Amino acid sequence: METYPVIEVPDDASTQLEQLGTKGKFWYEDETGRRCLFKEGRPGSGENWAEKVACEIAKALGLPHAHYDLACYRGRMGVSSPSLVPEGGRLILGNEVLSKQVDGYDPDSRYQARQHTLRRVIAVLRAPDVALPIDWTGPLKSPAEIFVGYLLLDALIGNQDRHHENWALVSVPGMGISLSATFDHASSLGRNETDEKRIERLNTRDQGRSVARYVARARSGLYASNRSDAKPMSTVAAFEMGCSLQPAGGEYWLARLGTLTVEQFSHWLAAVPDAWISQPARDFAVEMLKINRQRVLDSRGNHP
Ligand SMILES: Nc1ncnc2c1ncn2[C@@H]1O[C@H](COP(=O)(O)OP(=O)(O)O)[C@@H](O)[C@H]1O
Ligand SMILES: [Mg+2]
Repeated sequence: METYPVIEVPDDASTQLEQLGTKGKFWYEDETGRRCLFKEGRPGSGENWAEKVACEIAKALGLPHAHYDLACYRGRMGVSSPSLVPEGGRLILGNEVLSKQVDGYDPDSRYQARQHTLRRVIAVLRAPDVALPIDWTGPLKSPAEIFVGYLLLDALIGNQDRHHENWALVSVPGMGISLSATFDHASSLGRNETDEKRIERLNTRDQGRSVARYVARARSGLYASNRSDAKPMSTVAAFEMGCSLQPAGGEYWLARLGTLTVEQFSHWLAAVPDAWISQPARDFAVEMLKINRQRVLDSRGNHP
């Protein structure tokens, strides 16, 4: 079985610290001269394998996505990702975009950000001055339709972290503004569960403890409405709402999902080297993907 390569980041590589986000990370130049972000996963958190597997899934779906490799820096385990931003450009994160466009939008609240509604994100992406992701060559013609694919990915992997710093626009002087490729998928695939719980859920006869029940609890960082009592939507509900707002996008990404097989799911997890994942974590993630694939395919037609 061929496993994913592990990039060795040179000891003297740390050049520029990345301020945003929650983990230890820095930018460096790899041997081919590309600007890359090294992001250290919290030890034992499963963040690194989850990021890598989510990247393989995004690739198979045909989504514009950040590429991730497993990587080591001075013995620390992490991932390395080439910059999504062309020379001279910058990312404008969702909170910055929305605080410019929505009166009273609070860019600093990260969770419980009820102002972060899917309708607002879609409205941003429908603006005529927002272009398709750089390098997009698929048939969809609108960034909002492509964002529905990000929501499908979130529903498939159980990504709980689509908050307003985990989507962005790319601004490049002279080239205008476009939707950024999708990035930061490490909070997914049950990576933070203990093996004991995984084994229990995989084997239980108690419906309440099952993997099916577990995956239904995954919540997006997106809200259906900004009413004060609202909770964020489930990842599947966010995708369904995306389908109702951008039906052609929904149909396209559902057809892509229909091409993924359980054999591929097993393969993507088996390719994680043993030093980076346990067997129960692999088995649990494959079961999540199987169940979520069916849930998302079944959600077809549920949107009004
Ligand atoms: N491949 C990339 N290209 C450009 N910027 C990136 C890339 N990956 C991450 N970033 C930037 O770094 C920030 C933090 O990275 P992220 O993967 O979201 O880490 P965290 O898990 O700590 O939130 C992102 O919000 C984004 O601004
Ligand atoms: Mg992030």
